[in-house]
Amino acid sequence: MRIPAHEATTAQLGAAYPLVASRALPTGGVLVGRDLLGGAFVHDPFELYGAGALTNPNMLVFGQIGRGKSAFVKTYLYRQAAFGRRIVVLDPKGEYGPLARALGASPVALAPGGPLRLNPLEAALAGPGGGSEAARRRLARCAAVSSAALRRELSPLEHAGVEVALDDVASRSAVATIPSVVEALLEPTPAAARAIGASLAALRAGTRDLALELRRLVHGELRGMFDGPTSPDVELDGPAVVLDLSAVYHSPALGVLVTCAAAALERAADGGPGARTILVVDEAWAVLANLGAARYLQASWKLARSRGLANLAVLHRVSDLAAVGGAGSAVSRLAEGLVADSETVVCYAQPAAELATAAAVLGLSEEESRAVLRLGRGVALWKVGGRSFLVEHRLARAERALVDTDARLVARPER
Ligand SMILES: Nc1ncnc2c1ncn2[C@@H]1O[C@H](COP(=O)(O)OP(=O)(O)O)[C@@H](O)[C@H]1O
Ligand SMILES: [Mg+2]
Repeated sequence: MRIPAHEATTAQLGAAYPLVASRALPTGGVLVGRDLLGGAFVHDPFELYGAGALTNPNMLVFGQIGRGKSAFVKTYLYRQAAFGRRIVVLDPKGEYGPLARALGASPVALAPGGPLRLNPLEAALAGPGGGSEAARRRLARCAAVSSAALRRELSPLEHAGVEVALDDVASRSAVATIPSVVEALLEPTPAAARAIGASLAALRAGTRDLALELRRLVHGELRGMFDGPTSPDVELDGPAVVLDLSAVYHSPALGVLVTCAAAALERAADGGPGARTILVVDEAWAVLANLGAARYLQASWKLARSRGLANLAVLHRVSDLAAVGGAGSAVSRLAEGLVADSETVVCYAQPAAELATAAAVLGLSEEESRAVLRLGRGVALWKVGGRSFLVEHRLARAERALVDTDARLVARPER
């Protein structure tokens, strides 16, 4: 018996055999490793976006602990730096120090009461729109930090209170800081109250919770990190900026601290015209549980294209996105929006119990879901603008020192 030949387009075959018959990516980029179905796998979010293969340059990396997520991210950044990309990392576990040093930078380690400070309210570079644009962005950052500190949305009065407090501070000094905003909130001026048509007592009462929460960054256990002008020793304009937050990784206030850090790094991430910056938030699941932090991240994801910025977040399970804040809550909707705004997804092995969620959120076919269950360390399913690849991440010998997070757990003989 002879079976008649069947003809199909490459697009149809790609749908029927997603990993076998995927079209190659149209551009160059950095070498990631081996495409398990043949050839080398290269990727660059800016080139793919420029070529129209992606509608945004953002990336998400999922995977269980120890699968090689951070190792991939570190070497990806190291290789991207060779092409002149700027690197900005929010590092909650303090493991990007070797990468920073390899790129000629020193990691900025923030700790309560430590010697270094970052100012989340430092004026943005006076770009187009000059002072008014800088003021608008400072207000957005102060509102984000405020919402993260309160772990909820700001009330209209609180939002207006932040605005007039910043105006008040700006009329008295050149640099706004969290302590000066706290002072202005605790003791509002009659002019500030008049500006928003409230009585002095109503303004003070309506912003009191906010003032007290922000005060924790100045006087409480969180002091000494974000409560003054940026220390002169902190270099934010270099080719690599790594912010080590490991001293506060287990703090319940991690959400507000990361929001402060991200706000303070906004200037570093905006490298100016033509800049190409990759902004990484490792262990982002710990951050997404905070509404203000999640909203700030999402704003950064949305603005990526206009700022020459590719955001990259590292998460454990796909359900981290759905679980934060409870199904249907504002936080989980924001987190799910991150997936929609990230057209490159790198998925390391997920546990069987996660598979249904992963398939639904990431749009995995049955074949892809089965593959995700079986992936070994260092191997991931890549979804890039609707195309799928199975990629084995390869480490160069010289890169091992950048990625070894097992070293502290098990003493392994040198190979
Ligand atoms: N592609 C790889 N080849 C060989 N070893 C790897 C690879 N990726 C990760 N590893 C090793 O696995 C360990 C855990 O990786 P890591 O990236 O820290 O995991 P996580 O997914 O928890 O971020 C590291 O010590 C690293 O050296
Ligand atoms: Mg990791």
